[in-house]
Amino acid sequence: MMTNPSTQSNSVISPLGAEDVVIRTENVSIFYGTFQAVRNVFLDVPKNKVVAFIGPSGCGKSTLLRCYNRLNDLIPSARVEGKITYQGTDLYDPKVDPVEVRRRVGMVFQRPNPFPKTIYDNIAYGARINGYKGDMDELVERSLRGAALWDEVKDKLKASGLSLSGGQQQRLCIARTIAIEPEVILMDEPCSALDPISTLRVEDLIHELKQQFTIIIVTHNMQQASRVADYTAFFNAEAGPGGSRFGYLVEYDRTERIFNSPQQQATQDYVSGRFG
Ligand SMILES: Nc1ncnc2c1ncn2[C@@H]1O[C@H](COP(=O)(O)OP(=O)(O)OP(=O)(O)O)[C@@H](O)[C@H]1O
Ligand SMILES: [Mg+2]
Repeated sequence: MMTNPSTQSNSVISPLGAEDVVIRTENVSIFYGTFQAVRNVFLDVPKNKVVAFIGPSGCGKSTLLRCYNRLNDLIPSARVEGKITYQGTDLYDPKVDPVEVRRRVGMVFQRPNPFPKTIYDNIAYGARINGYKGDMDELVERSLRGAALWDEVKDKLKASGLSLSGGQQQRLCIARTIAIEPEVILMDEPCSALDPISTLRVEDLIHELKQQFTIIIVTHNMQQASRVADYTAFFNAEAGPGGSRFGYLVEYDRTERIFNSPQQQATQDYVSGRFG
């Protein structure tokens, strides 16, 4: 249930300029028990754009990403403070159904994780669960084409998804995600287990997918961020009281600015590899 948008306008003037905002992150802090993993993040995600999250290990990129489809709900100690709105609706409103959130905000993980089912059923399964009533063969073909995998698998749709190469498996997972027609796709280091050619194929795919979807991608690959992302958010980690480290957003801007003329020295150091 994700109706009842607030009266706030979706079109805002942010530091990014006038954009249609899909996800708004307002003063968000995220805790695991008493440990604060992420502190006071403000970040708007514009529609039909690609936003990259970059930053050193442990600065909370995955933690924040998981909040956007409420996957942190599955971690008992995790707690979110502040406000995340999705198309104007408070994502953490008790009336919001997390299953519906995850249908609208899909996720692709670091390790390809196809179901132990046929290639065909990897796509049909999720669609059926979500009540898809249309032509399943058509949906399977369209999704596999959308993920640039169709030509490689069209003659073996009954083979196991696990029989594919890693790069193919990742594209199968992307096909599975787009089959349920989400509005936003979260990708947590989707290419880190892939070879350079598969990586470029997934990057090409991201370029195409943004016509239709909004994408947030976490990556440790600076070239990848500069190739695929319209906007880039640089996160860093800092020692807090008691020595524990919390992650925070240092700078968020057009990708070209983050890489060529960042406002913060820490960003400059990170993107130029002079870090730590
Ligand atoms: N399930 C969890 N329970 C407790 N602490 C966690 C949990 N997941 C992450 N953390 C902690 O939260 C902080 C942020 O972790 P997170 O995985 O979000 O970082 P990251 O930026 O994605 O790092 P990486 O680049 O290595 O993937 C880390 O200190 C981590 O140890
Ligand atoms: Mg991570």
